[in-house]
Amino acid sequence: MKISTSKQDLRTQIKYWQSQNKTIAFVPTMGNLHAGHIALVEYAKKLADKVVVSIFVNPTQFDKAEDLQAYPRTMQADQEKLQHIATDLLFLPSVEIMYPAIDDACSVQIPASMDILEGASRKGHFSGVATVVAKLFNLVQPNKAIFGQKDFQQLMLVRKMVNDLDFDVDIIGMPTVREADGLAMSSRNGYLTEDERSKASGLYKELTILQEKILQGESNYFDLQQDTIRNLKERGFVPDYVEVRRQSDLQKPNVDDMELVILAAAWLGKARLIDNITFHQGD
Ligand code: PAF
Repeated sequence: MKISTSKQDLRTQIKYWQSQNKTIAFVPTMGNLHAGHIALVEYAKKLADKVVVSIFVNPTQFDKAEDLQAYPRTMQADQEKLQHIATDLLFLPSVEIMYPAIDDACSVQIPASMDILEGASRKGHFSGVATVVAKLFNLVQPNKAIFGQKDFQQLMLVRKMVNDLDFDVDIIGMPTVREADGLAMSSRNGYLTEDERSKASGLYKELTILQEKILQGESNYFDLQQDTIRNLKERGFVPDYVEVRRQSDLQKPNVDDMELVILAAAWLGKARLIDNITFHQGD
């Protein structure tokens, strides 16, 4: 596995592969790799000749509620995992390399339609995500880029940015990988104490209960959301939001909207967990 820490080195390798007509699949990450990330990389390998993974804890997407310094960094273990599955190139830039003038840099502006859910709770977060993803796409020039569906709104935002700003890359969403008890895999699960970890799968359980009620014909989404919020509180969570939305644009569904998603964010101790379930109302 080649490791590039500079933009120049990365670009030289990418240009070489392009000159050989090799296709490139890209998996951007912030490191602390778990089985969910590995599934993205394994899938990337099926899609293209060469696979590039980036590890960059992007400072511009952290808000006050989440501590940038405390974000888990496990570089040695991450490199071994990527080496083990024969990743072709790991891009490992420093903050100075990615943002030489971090306080005076152009950034991607996010439309008002994204100021909902995660966008409402985490001011500036999506602009930070879109900006770093745009920069990484410009550097890696992938044919395909793979993102997890756990960050459902992030995936939607990346698709929108690629469409609106004419990036020439296919965006692929991959299903959430879960622990045996249903908890969505996330680097933030590492913030949970043992006791919190034993309660954490309650988030997914409550989402599946809510989904089941909708599938059985209950349609008062507001009351259903309130019930789920109450249940989460009883399980020890501090819920941020629980929302039933339509998949296409994350707006509130009409009666004839069939493709739905339930999205939730809830604090458990120091960890802010997010999860979602997508489903067809007629299932
Ligand atoms: O999902 C993540 O890990 C990050 O938001 C991403 C896409 C790597 C951008 O920093």
